[in-house]
Amino acid sequence: LAYVSTEKEKTLAMIKPDGIAGNYTDVIKKTILDSGFSITQEMLLELNKETVRSFYAEHASKSFFPDLVQYMSRIKFSDFVKKVNAIADWRALIGPTDANNAKITQPNSIRAMCGMDLQRNCVHGSDSPQSADREIMFFFNKASSGFVSRNDEL
Ligand code: TYD
Ligand code: MG
Repeated sequence: LAYVSTEKEKTLAMIKPDGIAGNYTDVIKKTILDSGFSITQEMLLELNKETVRSFYAEHASKSFFPDLVQYMSRIKFSDFVKKVNAIADWRALIGPTDANNAKITQPNSIRAMCGMDLQRNCVHGSDSPQSADREIMFFFNKASSGFVSRNDEL
């Protein structure tokens, strides 16, 4: 007897401002699809600082927080993707936080391919089921407000 679940897990995959600026959107989306994820919903966003502070609330006390808020308050592309084991697999695919470290330790990762440094690491991935639920709600719940959706530009 075997219990087999085909339930797909959801995670938030975000292309950060440096990924957009470097024109990596298409290659990152191709990597997402080639790696067995399906894209459930996507949108182009411009966040105000208050919304970025709220999204990254877990890092509010860190010294890098003000810089992070400044950097993230620009256009980004947010995908909500689905796959069996999506959360861990997407984190593995993007690689370590510091893109310079990624280039050495995980040269095939997305952050190695598109990122520039510890801050400008081109993509975001939810780090746990709780984060994924929260972050998907944060951007994709129609009731959420405080950011300007640029869906019309898709
Ligand atoms: P973190 O959640 O630790 O990394 P990850 O994105 O891999 O989950 O940090 C959130 C973002 O904050 C990270 O992607 C880039 C930025 N950051 C810095 O700018 N400096 C730092 O020292 C750290 C740890 C993160
Ligand atoms: Mg994180």
